[in-house]
Amino acid sequence: TAQLNDLAVRAGLKYFGTALREGAVNSDAAYRRILTDKSEFGQLVPENGQKWESIQGSRGSFNYQQGDITANTARSSGQGLRCHTLVWHSQLPNWVASGSWNRDTLTQVIDTHMANVMTHYKGQCYAWDVVNEAINDDGTWRNSVFLRVFGTDYLPLSFNLAKKHDPDTKLYYNDYNLEYNGAKCDRAVEIVNIVQKAGAPIDGVGFQGHLIVGSTPTRAQLNTMLRRFTSLGVEVAYTELDIRHASLPANAQANQRQAQDFANVVGSCLDVQGCIGVTVWSFTDKYSWIPETFPGEGDALIYDRNFNKKAAWTAISSVL
Ligand code: XIL
Repeated sequence: TAQLNDLAVRAGLKYFGTALREGAVNSDAAYRRILTDKSEFGQLVPENGQKWESIQGSRGSFNYQQGDITANTARSSGQGLRCHTLVWHSQLPNWVASGSWNRDTLTQVIDTHMANVMTHYKGQCYAWDVVNEAINDDGTWRNSVFLRVFGTDYLPLSFNLAKKHDPDTKLYYNDYNLEYNGAKCDRAVEIVNIVQKAGAPIDGVGFQGHLIVGSTPTRAQLNTMLRRFTSLGVEVAYTELDIRHASLPANAQANQRQAQDFANVVGSCLDVQGCIGVTVWSFTDKYSWIPETFPGEGDALIYDRNFNKKAAWTAISSVL
């Protein structure tokens, strides 16, 4: 049977991809076998290895060990790479988050970080998440050192600096809970407008897709939401898809509902010209961030803990 990336490409997408968990890839052969099958996953993204705290935990010393795990795995398996992430309030080391900066000094800090990181990965990243999660769930601007120093000017500033350091990668704004097409989504539309009006480059918007079984919007609702962005001239992608059960254990019926929800999300991408790919945020329930962040919830992925394909896998393969 054909695997998901092959099916996705045949259906007109650029890739079906997955996040790579750095701690598992060298210790778990079964995990690695599926992860590196490029007919299943055409693109990888590091779960944590390219974040600011992973690369420049202390000022001026750059460590690419974790990030390179994904870049090297993708290269040796003939897979593409998404790169994640540059300007984000979270997993941001204290020296940045609590520094006393003005516009000039913080611009220097961002510029230096991007210069090093984007140059290191140059030529490998299909896309970079330049700015991640700038909006609160209620649609207000997320408080961060970046917002405090620059106001919303950090948005165009970040995209301009990213372009300078890697003119060939796609530059993305990436966030979660945009899928519900509410106030947060309205604000993300405004971000695209702000960046474009400032004359700065933005190529794409990433929908993380951290969704909940039974509360996932319909395929039609999702494709309406995606088109709000493609009509602005940017591409879109689902970048961190997982659909968690809010209560566990999940029975067969709940897994069928999860499968339907996954099919709706992937189907909505097929419906929209300019939706270019889908990435799951890890593929096996054995390795998922959900239980740590949302205690009691989980089993949000397309393979179970023993690497058996779930109903969700089958539903995606049928919609592709
Ligand atoms: C998560 C990772 O999966 C966890 O391992 C880590 O502890 C916290 O970050 N939005 C993002 C991702 O953009 O980087 C986050 O990844 C999940 C939410």
